[in-house]
Amino acid sequence: MKIAKDAFRRFPLKNVRGVPLMEAIVQNWESVCTFCPDPSDLLMAAYPKAGITWTQEIVDLLLHNGDAMACRRAPTILRHPFLEIFSPPPIPSGLDLLNKMDPPRVIKTHLPIQLVPEGFWKNKCKVIYVARNAKDNLVSYYHFDRMNLTHPDPGPWDGYIHKFMKGELAWGSWYDHVKGYWEERQKINILYLFYEDMKENPRREVERIMKYLDLSCSDDVIKRVVELTSFKVMKDNPMANYTFITKPIFDHSISPFMRKGWCFFQYFILISCVVVMVLLLDKNILLKNYCKAMFQY
Ligand code: A3P
Repeated sequence: MKIAKDAFRRFPLKNVRGVPLMEAIVQNWESVCTFCPDPSDLLMAAYPKAGITWTQEIVDLLLHNGDAMACRRAPTILRHPFLEIFSPPPIPSGLDLLNKMDPPRVIKTHLPIQLVPEGFWKNKCKVIYVARNAKDNLVSYYHFDRMNLTHPDPGPWDGYIHKFMKGELAWGSWYDHVKGYWEERQKINILYLFYEDMKENPRREVERIMKYLDLSCSDDVIKRVVELTSFKVMKDNPMANYTFITKPIFDHSISPFMRKGWCFFQYFILISCVVVMVLLLDKNILLKNYCKAMFQY
């Protein structure tokens, strides 16, 4: 795909009803908010970097009864249009892609609930939401903003944390985002997932998604879906790891899209295990004393 050299840069953010969004989205806001989905369309929503790509892959595999080849038909962004995204030509906007696809479609969004086009609620579309704990979400977003050369420069880490806490990053406040969908989840039948639950027990969460979509897959298919959506497999899948998007948009040499796929609790458990092992070995006096000092016993 040929891209004009100067078409891409770190675009500034502009506000829509108090939510900072990328400039191009704001310029095309009227066409986004008047988009009318079909009742059979599925909306997949999340704050940026909460694990939506992972969930999209699970959904696609379930919809294709675990057929890996079918799900490698195109990169994620072309299989599941990103509702509000507008990039300079020749990259098609989410709405361009949607207009060329027949329902039922799987539609991705990062919009907070109050900005989701009314048509989704009027037509009672199904909605899957993914939330991730603030700490891992923030770290992941920071590295993403470094490598996504169309997002504002993240600047130093300290300043970035403050922007995150004040809701000044693209798509606004993490807190308002996760809370907004949480509060409406029963009224409009949103399947609300947590990244950490998916890490802890992927099979259980795959089954929840399957039931929500009114599908019934065999045990073998469910197992295959879990395997094919493991971090390791997805990291090597060019149709799911975003290596399809290269410079001048994503610079994977700064940070890969699929970075670690870990959560804070895993680090905590790992560090605890290392400390326990060091204490048990009881050989290195220096380390032992250091640990003693740290835990003050
Ligand atoms: P990290 O940057 O912490 O690695 P999104 O798809 O919403 O942009 O979220 C991207 C985050 O989800 C990245 O987190 C990415 O590694 C993680 N991710 C993607 N696929 C995953 C998988 N199969 N298992 C665990 N984490 C995954």
